[in-house]
Amino acid sequence: MANARKVAVVVGSLRKESFSLKVAKAVVAMAPPTLAMEVVDIAQLPLFNQDWESAYPPPAAAFKQRIAEAEAVLFVTPEYNRSVPGVLKNAIDVASRPYGQSAWSGKPGAVISVSPGAIGGFGANQHLRQSMVFLDVPMLQQPEAYIGGANKLFDAQGQLVSDDTRQFLQKFVQAYAEWVERHAKR
Ligand code: FNR
Repeated sequence: MANARKVAVVVGSLRKESFSLKVAKAVVAMAPPTLAMEVVDIAQLPLFNQDWESAYPPPAAAFKQRIAEAEAVLFVTPEYNRSVPGVLKNAIDVASRPYGQSAWSGKPGAVISVSPGAIGGFGANQHLRQSMVFLDVPMLQQPEAYIGGANKLFDAQGQLVSDDTRQFLQKFVQAYAEWVERHAKR
């Protein structure tokens, strides 16, 4: 769709066979035509250093620019030690500074947490919401998305094989599309 809303999909795992990335790809593939979703890579980001604030290193500047150009954001993340993986927190910090020039501000957002475990990354999901409240990102409230048992959802080609999860993600992305429409800036 020509005027589809640009959505930056940020995945909190750098692992090649990441379940979170597989969930993200499944969601991108089922997105309605009103959303143009793209995974924005965070693997090349250096660790944030506040000394950059006068001049960001090029990969950090490029990432912040990608977020600035997006109209909405979707996080798909594992849980590390009951919180957000450091690589994702770093990406959030990179695009949030200098103070007053955050690229996240006001963009409708949502989070899907993913885990092979039964709790579905609840801790990461909630910690991410805490940062997003501060960053003025209105986060989709319902449905909440805690994807547990992620090691059983995909075949060897990385295709989603669980009908229940497919139906849930379809419902989720539909609710997210409505959320984006309601909260996007233009
Ligand atoms: C984990 N894992 C994990 N799982 C969970 O449900 N809660 C947790 O707190 C943690 N903590 C944790 C810490 C660290 C450092 C690692 C490496 C892993 C397991 C994690 O869910 C599993 O490795 C997933 O496969 C990671 O997600 P991706 O990479 O598959 O998207």
